[in-house]
Amino acid sequence: MSESRTGAKVERLPLARYTTLGVGGESEVWFVSTHEQLAEAMEQPYRILGGGSNLVISDEGVPERVIRLSGPFAERDLEPDPTLSGDTEIVTGWVGGGVPLPGLVRALQKLGLSNLEGTVGIPGQVGGSVWMNAGTRFGEMFDGLHTIEIATPDGVKQVTPADLNWGYRNSGIPRNHIVTRVRLKLKRGTPGEVQARMDAADHARKGQPKNKTPGCAFKNPTLPGGQKVSAGLLIDQAGLKGTRVGNAMIAPEHANFIVNLGGATAADVHALLEVIREKVGVPMELEYELWPERPELSQAQTAELR
Ligand code: EPU
Repeated sequence: MSESRTGAKVERLPLARYTTLGVGGESEVWFVSTHEQLAEAMEQPYRILGGGSNLVISDEGVPERVIRLSGPFAERDLEPDPTLSGDTEIVTGWVGGGVPLPGLVRALQKLGLSNLEGTVGIPGQVGGSVWMNAGTRFGEMFDGLHTIEIATPDGVKQVTPADLNWGYRNSGIPRNHIVTRVRLKLKRGTPGEVQARMDAADHARKGQPKNKTPGCAFKNPTLPGGQKVSAGLLIDQAGLKGTRVGNAMIAPEHANFIVNLGGATAADVHALLEVIREKVGVPMELEYELWPERPELSQAQTAELR
């Protein structure tokens, strides 16, 4: 472990331990806890590692600096801001990009504060979840955002959702910008009401695999008629459940999940993504991030619709 000019902790570490898939080689990790340290880390090519869900890192790691938000960037202030809060709606203090989403969702339920309960079960951190507008059929991150603070190569700025071109699983925030903190916009309710909506979202996950996984592999595609269809259903219909390459497998429980049976490599996962691309005749966009990028695996491919 060494220290950078501004005091960031820097260490070469295997990234597998920081991902929910449990795959990824060694890279240089920067633990930053101030805007000054973050700005220093961003002076050279970098990537930002949040909760490590939704991410497949190559077995060789990455050559760039890998930034992790720590210290105050991993703290949360859920006190309503009196100048912005009313009887029905409140705006919180700052919630750091490095705060784990599951603990935040639980804390909001206890306070009877609603808008983000639809994201229950998503294992990421706040920053990454905002960056990709993570969500389920029951809700997404942009349901509960007031202000978003973003570190850019040109400095730190604050924006509102209205400033961004956000949509399904997409915040409109450029790839090399880092969500450092947010203020939440929430509705006042009761813990019981919020819990009931969490239970509904939880119930929908019952059939999902329990193994190590990055989460859903593909975004649900929109068919030419404008109808959204489950990527899992399409992969299932292609007969691919249970397909195995090395120690990675298309989950028998839900075909849009690739799971690590123990000792899987990134190469195994890439090979399975290729199999899915080849066998499902509908263009689908990858939901995972691949480090380094593999455009041929990530982008929706124009194939003949069956
Ligand atoms: N289905 C199958 N076979 C499969 C998978 C699904 O027949 O292998 C069918 C189901 O039976 C159901 C339909 O497809 O009739 C929809 O499936 P599901 O309810 O699981 O919803 P989904 O659209 O496949 C979405 C999110 C999940 C989220 C669930 C539950 C996306 C890409 N997926 O899945 O999110 O957990 O709803 O809310 O938006 C993720 O983002 O990482 C993720 C897994």
